[in-house]
Amino acid sequence: MFGFWKTWKALEARGIMGINRRNADYVLKYNKRSLYPIVDDKIITKERAIAAGIHVPQLYGVISTEKEIDKLDEIIGGRNDFVIKPAQGAGGDGIIVIADRFEGRYRTVSGKIISHEEIEHHVSSILTGLYSLGGHRDRALIEYRVIPDQIFKSISYEGVPDIRIIVLMGYPVMAMLRLPTRQSGGKANLHQGAIGVGVDLATGLTLRGTWLNNIIAKHPDTTNAVDGVQLPYWDGFMKLAAGCYELCGLGYIGVDMVLDQEKGPLILELNARPGLNIQIANDCGLTLRTHAVEARLEELKARGVTETVEERVAFVQEMFGHIPQVEG
Ligand SMILES: Nc1ncnc2c1ncn2[C@@H]1O[C@H](COP(=O)(O)OP(=O)(O)O)[C@@H](O)[C@H]1O
Ligand SMILES: [Mg+2]
Repeated sequence: MFGFWKTWKALEARGIMGINRRNADYVLKYNKRSLYPIVDDKIITKERAIAAGIHVPQLYGVISTEKEIDKLDEIIGGRNDFVIKPAQGAGGDGIIVIADRFEGRYRTVSGKIISHEEIEHHVSSILTGLYSLGGHRDRALIEYRVIPDQIFKSISYEGVPDIRIIVLMGYPVMAMLRLPTRQSGGKANLHQGAIGVGVDLATGLTLRGTWLNNIIAKHPDTTNAVDGVQLPYWDGFMKLAAGCYELCGLGYIGVDMVLDQEKGPLILELNARPGLNIQIANDCGLTLRTHAVEARLEELKARGVTETVEERVAFVQEMFGHIPQVEG
């Protein structure tokens, strides 16, 4: 393991993107303000995805007011597992993943037993905006609990790993697999303590990992190697992510996807301000790639053509595949 800062410095020479550049040159430039609600509200994202024929975890119900908390029982119905989350949450905060029932109570995926009253109280906190961006009133959504594909068993601890792909104007530029740990409580968010693992865009093979700002080779809980794992349906994930541009209209997004044991690839959410740690996990700067895509867009514009999802994926796989690159 070696220091985060040292790694970041070394990457600077290789086109690392900092937060100011991300905001000015990508988020502000490519993401129209009026379109933000589509990605900032998970209920709206879901509606859009369904309309576009893209699979998402099934929505069981929405609670918008204190009065509607009475409907919780009815929404959950006879189900033993489900997920409650704030529609406008971020970073995994406020998400409860219920895996089972236990003597009139519920058991979360990390083994905590909670009562129905505690769940109601949690929903009420969501409504007041405790977890929402900007702290304003929010809605709670109750949805299908994703059961991760068996492939992740050896390299994941509880919870659901997710695949994050950053997409610029419909072109995937960088990918990362995020693995929950004992510390992250079943969630795949890096600042909850999940591991980020780089993924080769061409093949879907995992690269090295980062955990709590360190470079790692093994999962801390399972001790299995996190690199060299072949992710299934890789081209499917790439196309799914690329197609999210048409779905939301935002030019610079992070697409979060999961692989359900039965339902296959699903879109979990879209982010208008995707984090920058993906660069550490891939040992590669984002600007190297975003500049290449911007050059491609210029070239296509001059020729008066645009590319399909398949063409865009083929382009980036050819350009950015087969890392790690030459050491700088
Ligand atoms: N339906 C679900 N089933 C199981 N786990 C989930 C579900 N939704 C979210 N999670 C877990 O919580 C994490 C964060 O969920 P996400 O919807 O991306 O919200 P956030 O905006 O807070 O990141 C996911 O990466 C996943 O590990
Ligand atoms: Mg997320």
